[in-house]
Amino acid sequence: MRQPLVAGNWKMNGSIENIKELLDGIKQGIIEYGLDKGNSVEIVVCPPSIYLAEVHSQIKDSAISLGAQNVSDQASGAFTGENSVSMLKDYGCKYSIIGHSERRTLYAETDQFIAKKFAVVCEAQLIPIFCIGELLEEREAGKTEDIVSRQIDAVLDVVDISAFKNSVIAYEPVWAIGTGKTATPDQAQEVHAFIRKKLSDLDADTGAQVQILYGGSMNASNAEELLGMPDIDGGLIGGASLKPTDFLAICNAANATVNEKESLV
Ligand code: PGA
Repeated sequence: MRQPLVAGNWKMNGSIENIKELLDGIKQGIIEYGLDKGNSVEIVVCPPSIYLAEVHSQIKDSAISLGAQNVSDQASGAFTGENSVSMLKDYGCKYSIIGHSERRTLYAETDQFIAKKFAVVCEAQLIPIFCIGELLEEREAGKTEDIVSRQIDAVLDVVDISAFKNSVIAYEPVWAIGTGKTATPDQAQEVHAFIRKKLSDLDADTGAQVQILYGGSMNASNAEELLGMPDIDGGLIGGASLKPTDFLAICNAANATVNEKESLV
């Protein structure tokens, strides 16, 4: 059984004042919903890197895990503005998002550059949350599978398939990110099943184990349906992760639907 995972990608939002309020809300909700039990949903927050230390100290005694939004492909040296894997580990990060579509499109990160980060993150025993997904015009041209395959193949050029066992994939159709336009549960499931089959064809265990999250305008109202799909193992949440009530509702939905999935096995 794959453990459900819900990660909040705060993007470039938050301030020293409102981080405490947000985290207190999440911590309280975890207790209210009973999400701190052994096999519950794993809850991750990914704040801006400047707040990692602060968040790390505030979540110390909670069930919340920490992730970064990005990481350097380099270990150290003259790379102004970058953070290395060892720096992320210093502040207790377990995860790092890599290849988010905003990095791909606004900062011109290529498949090969992201693949290098994937390898560096795995080598440091951090867990990549590897984002993939197609643009609207690519979906309309029927190229969704080609695009996600190309993005995964770039990683498979530099790591062994087994590296995906300790990785998380986030399928995020670019047209659904921050737009309020969510993929339908069937649309998302179709791509998730395709990704899982692609990996399973190379190694059955890896395909069965890898957690595949959906991201793109997931919110408190659509989460239950999306998360109920057999190959959707959780969510990467942008906008709704900044509101504790909404974020918690999504975490709770992930928890509940997985219990349902378990009873079907
Ligand atoms: P959104 O962002 O939930 O605001 O659409 C998701 C993401 O970019 O990870």
